[in-house]
Amino acid sequence: MSTHARPRIGEQHCQECLVSIGPERIREEFPTLWTKVHGKPLVYLDNAATTQKPRSVIEALTRYYTEENSNVHRGVHLLSQVATQAYESGRTKVRQFVNAAHDREIIFTRGTTEGINLVAQTYGRRALRAGDEVLISAMEHHSNIVPWQMICEEKGAALKVIPMNDAGELLLEEYRRLLTDRTKLVAVTHVSNALGTVNPIQDVIALAHGRGIPVLVDGAQAVSHMPVDVRELDCDFYAFSGHKLFGPTGIGILYGKAYLLEAMPPYQGGGDMISAVTFEKTIYNTLPYKFEAGTPHIAGVIGLAAAIEYVERVGRNQIAAYEADLLAYGTEILTAVPGLRLIGTARDKAGVLSFVLDGIHAHDVGTILDLEGVAVRAGHHCAMPVMKRFGLPATARASLAFYNTRADLDALAKGLHKVREVFA
Ligand code: ALA
Repeated sequence: MSTHARPRIGEQHCQECLVSIGPERIREEFPTLWTKVHGKPLVYLDNAATTQKPRSVIEALTRYYTEENSNVHRGVHLLSQVATQAYESGRTKVRQFVNAAHDREIIFTRGTTEGINLVAQTYGRRALRAGDEVLISAMEHHSNIVPWQMICEEKGAALKVIPMNDAGELLLEEYRRLLTDRTKLVAVTHVSNALGTVNPIQDVIALAHGRGIPVLVDGAQAVSHMPVDVRELDCDFYAFSGHKLFGPTGIGILYGKAYLLEAMPPYQGGGDMISAVTFEKTIYNTLPYKFEAGTPHIAGVIGLAAAIEYVERVGRNQIAAYEADLLAYGTEILTAVPGLRLIGTARDKAGVLSFVLDGIHAHDVGTILDLEGVAVRAGHHCAMPVMKRFGLPATARASLAFYNTRADLDALAKGLHKVREVFA
């Protein structure tokens, strides 16, 4: 890999970094987008797997490690206080980003997966009895299936699944029918990583709440595409990851309503999650620290805060509008590729174009596109039941971010014609 250009715009331009001006200026802020692969300029269309990082995030990480590196909540010395202040203001930034009521409702995790496991192993372990049910949907990522299977198996509870139609939309009537007195929790994705479906999550939550059932939302694929307001949604838990939001890997967020988090036992034991320890008994710390055992990912939080600042400067409504246009364009030009079938055609979709090409395995599609410089994901997308539902072993998936352009999608379509030539 090589880098063919490193243009840079100054901080003074940041107010201009709006999608409405055009994505070129924004692209300049993402060094990886200027990389070449196989001698070709990178066309990065694998944003559902992870997003690229703007310079402000990279610089925040460098600044922390070069000037502020220290542990949090432990030192009386200045650096520790600086690090603690940066870490806790990162929490406030996240709280404002999702419009939670209190900082203590924001738990830092390793990522969405850990957030869901935390709820399964604490809330789930307390709430579930033999014969109870956890309700998920047919389009869940493995991270919102397996943690529930594990705790259901342990408790003798059952996992129930809301079906979807051929477009990849949840069947709400079936959902209504599946909500019973046995249902102890509903766990549904906001946006499907494999299909792009944006679920009517507010309706999902309202219907569950109508029966007094709490709802966990997997927001991993939503937060980078649209504004999310946890109080407006009224969800009980909302989990997402920093690296899909232009921030570092290894940092995630679990939002939970304070009264639920208060009642839940800790997830892991260790430093920071205690207020007093003797060999006889430990008194646990208050929220959010009760759920943050051990030295946290301080740099991750600082990088995430910089990422959120960046996304807010661009504007989440602008991002949603720009990506909707890009998705419409991508849908149009991919549909024109002979033999291509889109998987996931919901009326409400985020920037995901999952597809199969007649007679050509998705891995071959991905490999040839890669040689053309076009990065897509090929496989089951950690959603094997979705593949099974559509009777497919795999799909190729192009997933968008606000720094993508119509030219990127043209390059994808051109690459697909090349794939067809190779296999002709
Ligand atoms: N969940 C990520 C994806 O969809 C890794 O690619």
